[in-house]
Formats: sequence, structure tokens, C-alpha cells
Amino acid sequence: METKEIEKAAELIKKPGHVVVFSGAGISVESGLTTFRGKGGLYEKYNPSIFDISNFRKNPESSWRVMKERFKKLEECEPNDAHKVLADLEEKGFINSIITQNIDGLHQKAGSKKVIEFHGTMRTCSCMDCKTKHSLNKEIFEKTLPRCEKCEGVLKPDIVFFGEGINPEVVEQSGKEQFKSKVMIVIGTSGEVAPANMIVFGAKAGGAKIIEINPEPSAFTNTITDVFLQGSAREILNEIHKIILI
Ligand code: OAD
Repeated sequence: METKEIEKAAELIKKPGHVVVFSGAGISVESGLTTFRGKGGLYEKYNPSIFDISNFRKNPESSWRVMKERFKKLEECEPNDAHKVLADLEEKGFINSIITQNIDGLHQKAGSKKVIEFHGTMRTCSCMDCKTKHSLNKEIFEKTLPRCEKCEGVLKPDIVFFGEGINPEVVEQSGKEQFKSKVMIVIGTSGEVAPANMIVFGAKAGGAKIIEINPEPSAFTNTITDVFLQGSAREILNEIHKIILI
């Protein structure tokens, strides 16, 4: 990785103006989580249809089985330096917000305050019938098919499944951040999933500079990225942090 490129990125982040982070599964790889796509990704082990809402309606038990396995793993994970650097940069006023596609909660665990969870959360689940929210606690995890205490309807984690819409409040909040952004730092995402990826394309169309951190090129790299920093999120963000704090 060329130092010049890292310096360029650090300069853009330091300039006055709204800086928004857009993160994906890659930022949590160094916390021990797998990505979805590519070698060793979750979709090599499971058919993505397990996260399809029509599939969940037909066979919720099989989706719950996979989710419980994933959630158990999430509980054991800790934020890595990439999450921690972002939290520190927010505290010091260099970063305004994070829009994440991740449901792992690691940005918040690292101390980031303004985090928009575009694909929902694993902290709660809702009844498919009466919509009552429940916290996703150990008791629920122990059941083969978690059901609502009020009406016995099937519970579904509040994460966005394929075929479901994004929470309108979340769309509004992330839209506001996108419009305000002068710089967007895109970290650890393939950029293949819509409508989430539209946030980055929209920011670019609105005039934001796009800084990208990823060991591999993504859907953004050769189309809209201004500064591509090839490498792991932890390694590159540690470098940027050092330069910004000088
Ligand atoms: P993907 O699995 O599509 O992409 C992960 C990206 O992380 C790839 O571009 C990798 O090159 C990159 N990567 C791997 N290791 C990294 C590291 N150490 N540092 C930085 N980057 C690294 O994951 P997402 O783009 O997050 O949606 O996937 C988007 C959505 O697809 C997810 O939110 C999920 C999934 O289906 C839903 O569940 C709705």
C-alpha cells in the first residue's frame, strides 16, 4: 500500500466537512467473523435462500437453526482495531456517522455513537403476526422455534431478509447522512447488495469523495472510488489514525 494514497485519504478525512462511514462484513473479519461472499464466506456453507423471507415463512425452523449458530458466534466476538479507530475518530470529531450493513453490533461495542443499522439488528425479534417486539435473549435461543408470548405467532429476528423492505426510518436517516456527506469511507463491502449500495453511488452523485478500504476490488472500485486503499480494514485504519493524530 502506497503511503501517498493513505496520506491522501487522511487529508480528505481531516478537511472540514461531513464524513460518513459505510461498512460491511469485511470490517469484522479480524474480529473472527466470516464474510457472506467469496472464499470461506457464509454463502459457501449455506444457501443464501435461508435468508429469504419467503423461505422463512415456509420453514422458519431451518432459518432459525442457521441464525442461532451465527448469533452464538457474534456473541463471542469483540471489536477489532478497525472498529476502535472509527469510534475514536468519531469522538475526536473527524467522523460524523456510520451506516453499517452489519448486524454484529461491533461498532457500538467499540464505542461508536451514531450508528445506523441498515440491515437491522440482532438485539430484538418481532412476532410475524401481532408485531410485538421481544429482546433476543438466551431463553428465545433455547427454543427450536421461538414463538410470541402474546399470540404464539412465529418470531423473526429484526434483521432484513431478502425480499423485505428496509425500515423507513432507517432509509430516512441514512438518506440524510448520504446527502450531507463530503467524504464517504467505504469499508469491507462487496457493494453487491441493493438498496444499501445505492447509498454510496448516491453520495458520489452528490459530490462526495469516496475512499475505499478493501483487500479486493469491489463494485465501487473501478466505477466511483476516488482513493482505493487495498488491504485489511485494521491495517489501513491504524495507518490513517496515526497520520490524522500527528
Ligand atoms: P460481502 O461478503 O459481500 O463482502 C465482504 C467484503 O469484505 C469483500 O469485498 C471482501 O473483499 C472484504 N474483506 C474481506 N476481508 C476484509 C478485511 N480484513 N478488511 C476489509 N475488507 C475485507 O459482505 P457485505 O458487502 O457486507 O445482507 O454484504 C452485504 C450484504 O449481503 C450483507 O449485509 C447481507 C448479505 O446478504 C443481508 O443479510 C440483508
